[in-house]
Amino acid sequence: MKLKANQIEAFRRDGYLVLTDLVGPVTCVGLRHQADALVAAFEPDDVASIFSTTNQQQATDRYFLESGGAVRCFFEEEAFDATGALQVPKSRAINKIGHALHDLDPVFAPFSRSSAFEDVVTALGVAAPLLLQSMYIFKQPSIGGEVVWHQDATFLYTDPVSVVGLWIALEDADIQNGCLWALPGGHLHGLKRRFKRGAGVSTFFEEMDDVVWRNEDFVPIEAKAGTVVVLDGKLPHGSRANRSARSRHAYAVHVIDREAKYPSDNWLHRPADMPMKGFRP
Ligand code: FE2
Repeated sequence: MKLKANQIEAFRRDGYLVLTDLVGPVTCVGLRHQADALVAAFEPDDVASIFSTTNQQQATDRYFLESGGAVRCFFEEEAFDATGALQVPKSRAINKIGHALHDLDPVFAPFSRSSAFEDVVTALGVAAPLLLQSMYIFKQPSIGGEVVWHQDATFLYTDPVSVVGLWIALEDADIQNGCLWALPGGHLHGLKRRFKRGAGVSTFFEEMDDVVWRNEDFVPIEAKAGTVVVLDGKLPHGSRANRSARSRHAYAVHVIDREAKYPSDNWLHRPADMPMKGFRP
């Protein structure tokens, strides 16, 4: 698909662009079914046994830090009761699946490389896109967790900053079920911080810029299923908790520019035998 000049201009000005009806309803349903199948095949007991070792925090960190080249399920924080037992069925307990669906999953991989997505990100300035990360986000009914205001470049840093996010609504997302919120124009200011690897399996934030984001300046981005929201990597955004009875499924893919330097102290590492790839093999 070819973007119009006013769409490119809006992305430069606002830091995001909403493209309605870019993904068809049958495709949305197919992706949701595939995510359901991945969760059905996921054995929480296996993970629980990993996490019940003496060094629980280290195991938790490793499960996350080694997901850059894997397809792993992560729980909603509120899925567990005070004793640590799951208080909702497994199918309602998963927060997200990440972070290499775009390379490893037979349904998500070809979808992630849709030519429409390539057209969009190249028109918006990513000259030589590489697919870095993907996530399926469930935002479960009642317990779907808040995602605090952040910039994607905090987590997916390159020098210079090049990351662009494609956020695809697979169900209608509105204020009630925890749609995206963003700070229009906020990408024109600094990168607030970087999330880095420390020694061993530790991580930490490096503060970079003291720019202040005011809650009242954020606007909701409601999106019908099939809508793609393109996000500049420095755009402050997030989403509120989902206290509604409806889920809010979405899929996100992040691309970076091949020419930008990807630092080795980013949290997300790709295994040596899984180099990043572009839209075309
Ligand atoms: Fe984000």
